[in-house]
Amino acid sequence: MDIFDKIRKNRGELGQYQKQGQGYFMFPKLEGEISPHMKFMGKEVLTWSLNNYLGLANHPEVRKEDAKGAKDWGMAYPMGARMMSGQTSKHEELEKKLAEFAGKERAYLLNYGYMGMTSIIDALAGRNDVIVYDSESHACILDGLRMHMGKRYVFPHNNIENLMKQLERASKLAEKTGGGVLVITEGVFGMAGDLGNLKAITDLKKDFNFRLLVDDAHGFGTMGKTGAGTGEHYGVQDKIDVYFSTFAKSMAGIGGFVASDEDVVDYLQYNMRSQIYAKSLPMPMVMGAIKRLEMLKNMPELRENLWSVVNALQKGLKENGFDLGKTESPVTPVFLKGGIPEATGITMDLRENYGIFCSIVIYPVVPKGVIMLRLIPTADHTLQDVERTVKAFASVKKKLDAGEYSEVRTMVVK
Ligand SMILES: Cc1ncc(COP(=O)(O)O)c(C=O)c1O
Repeated sequence: MDIFDKIRKNRGELGQYQKQGQGYFMFPKLEGEISPHMKFMGKEVLTWSLNNYLGLANHPEVRKEDAKGAKDWGMAYPMGARMMSGQTSKHEELEKKLAEFAGKERAYLLNYGYMGMTSIIDALAGRNDVIVYDSESHACILDGLRMHMGKRYVFPHNNIENLMKQLERASKLAEKTGGGVLVITEGVFGMAGDLGNLKAITDLKKDFNFRLLVDDAHGFGTMGKTGAGTGEHYGVQDKIDVYFSTFAKSMAGIGGFVASDEDVVDYLQYNMRSQIYAKSLPMPMVMGAIKRLEMLKNMPELRENLWSVVNALQKGLKENGFDLGKTESPVTPVFLKGGIPEATGITMDLRENYGIFCSIVIYPVVPKGVIMLRLIPTADHTLQDVERTVKAFASVKKKLDAGEYSEVRTMVVK
């Protein structure tokens, strides 16, 4: 069998829908300046799809700093990986500031959170170590697990009782192999917005010997009194052994970081393959991240705006009978009954007739027969935006209940 023949026949889990929705449902082009009001196919849409939680992406001060970084340094600087020729004092300065804010001894930058996470797992856990992880973990965690040569046990999403069972199994096995146990979960689960139960998990440290790695991609900047994340929210940041976040959400950039004890980060710096063998983050991104972190820390009003929009949106939707699952974060999922016809029908109706752009999630991410519209409020949205959206949702819900979206819609945009 020729490899190309194979892939012509089997386009993959997502690729199979390419012909029905490329450019519309998948890979849509949002145009114009990043804000809640952008253009899609030439029409203005109220956008609820960007993880720009604090509204930093297009903030004039951020834009200024980004432009200055590019002017002063160019996009190439520094050339090479950190270990070889890509080290700068600015990279170190950003790491110092991140560590301080995250309440850890040391931090290390990652080029893309995704790559970083796979290597954190790979570097921390060897063949004798056992990993115990939440079943709804992000793909970067699952890909890190693919590289793991030892045993792994999964616990059903946030099920602490089951986690205890897995920890018993893992501890027994680790005793035999002479290895350790690493538990991995998330601060905020980015699809449904519920929180990893970090309080209950860290409480288990009394009874089990394990280290905890938390992916707080959606919690950093949004959760906790100072925005330091979900660990701060629960008051357990010091019990998270390895803290990870990306710059792709609240920090509105590229890259990420890992923070932990000094010797652990020293070790990671020398053992995370995706960082050792890849180019250092470009200087404008580093300078821009220093600026973003300063703003995240010193402008609590950004987080206050975000939460006032979050609270209004979630309250309005709930009052209109929508099921928002268990979200406790800005991520606002709206669960509806339906399959692909309903999912495509509602998405198109919202975009074409109400000017509202949100993301749609279907099986296998959510169970069969359920569709999820996912809204991401930001500090840039207004209460008028919320009102308009709640009204539109109430209107499409009536149509859904009346069976108006029973035909599969296809829409391919060239
Ligand atoms: C939970 C979670 N972890 C990791 C990542 C990957 O981060 P990055 O975009 O920096 O690769 C994402 C998405 O950005 C995410 O949502």
